[in-house]
Amino acid sequence: MPKKIRLGILGGGGDSLIGVLHRVASFINDNYEIVGAVFNPNYDDNLAFAEEIDVPTNRIYKDFDTLIEEEMKLPEDERIQVCSILTPNFLHFPMAKKLLENGFNVICEKPMTTTYEEALILQETLEKAGTVFAVTHTYTGYPMVRQMREMIKEGVIGKVHKVDAQYYQGWMNPIIHDKEKRGTVWRLDPKKAGISSCMGDIGVHAFNMVEFTTGLQVQSLLCDFNYMYDDNVMDMDGTALIRMDRNVKGVIRASQVATGEENNLTIAIYGEKGGLKWEQENPNYLYKLNDPEPLQVYKPGHAYNSKLSLDGTKLPPGHPEGIFDAMANIYLGAAKAIRGEEYNSGEFPTMMDGVRGLKFIENTVASHKQGNIWVDMD
Ligand SMILES: NC(=O)c1ccc[n+]([C@@H]2O[C@H](COP(=O)([O-])OP(=O)(O)OC[C@H]3O[C@@H](n4cnc5c(N)ncnc54)[C@H](O)[C@@H]3O)[C@@H](O)[C@H]2O)c1
Repeated sequence: MPKKIRLGILGGGGDSLIGVLHRVASFINDNYEIVGAVFNPNYDDNLAFAEEIDVPTNRIYKDFDTLIEEEMKLPEDERIQVCSILTPNFLHFPMAKKLLENGFNVICEKPMTTTYEEALILQETLEKAGTVFAVTHTYTGYPMVRQMREMIKEGVIGKVHKVDAQYYQGWMNPIIHDKEKRGTVWRLDPKKAGISSCMGDIGVHAFNMVEFTTGLQVQSLLCDFNYMYDDNVMDMDGTALIRMDRNVKGVIRASQVATGEENNLTIAIYGEKGGLKWEQENPNYLYKLNDPEPLQVYKPGHAYNSKLSLDGTKLPPGHPEGIFDAMANIYLGAAKAIRGEEYNSGEFPTMMDGVRGLKFIENTVASHKQGNIWVDMD
């Protein structure tokens, strides 16, 4: 049994949304051990949280620069091998860049950076470093999303002609209508989030899902935003018409003010022979729409699924797996790459996904601001 991969965590403290998802995911397949961290910018909070979750405090550092400095003094076989970056967006670029420059592998939350320019610099830095870089577009880790990708690749629905991805949340609705509350959310601060709230935070997942499942690239888009209030500079809602390779057309709809919606990410891909539809809130059902046959429902763990899908399933059919398992599948793919083992390119999103995500975000903003015009992705 290979030794566990030594994992460092940046951000993701007890006060965070995403920290627990990464910690649990890293444990699920027995591949990683958390050996060092800066969970919070405040050192006392950082130490207290490490104690609470029983991570040894000897490698809990006061800040990111100290983590790099101290880890580099350690022999290579003790040093952190991969760091997960789970901070607000503006810290992803400086952290990832320095980690790569010092030879670390990186697992980075999305959006990978706050600008396309930074994303390109990071891509160049990774080329020099030659290490592993994963971007956690979590939803690509679900077995039935992987199954969707493989079925489309095999031509089960024929030539794709229409895509429709929707990512609707409502939790920002009460915040946007309260001027005081708006200032308390980093996602509404362009210095911390980047130039977009809705497309940068959730639209980018929908964009990634469209490219992941179809294997096609978005070539151009036209976007319309709603900022809700004149004094709010961040988009709260947006719709992008997209044109993809091979004359595929579609729409990416995202909203943070879809009142009452929880985490409603839904993707539908239609081809000449049928359609495939998946909903994040019911992730173990993949619907195959047939014309004129009845609807079929695919479920995880059955032998009729693809290897990529089955590799992401741990239990027999009927034992529901969820978001923790989806993220664990991405960690599993990254572990294979870090160990130099073979893996399928669909096992984790890469630097290329991160770069394209930033291009998408910037293009949606450019399209809206220039009067809803078509903008090319290249
Ligand atoms: N993959 C997904 O589905 C998904 C879901 C939610 C969030 N995210 C992404 O995860 C990232 C974090 O989002 P969140 O909702 O957990 O944010 P959050 O505000 O809930 O948590 C951020 C954490 O980072 C810590 N932090 C802040 N500055 C730091 C610093 N200088 N050094 C170390 N730690 C620091 C905070 O103390 C906190 O623990 C964002 O980039 C977000 O886009 C991804």
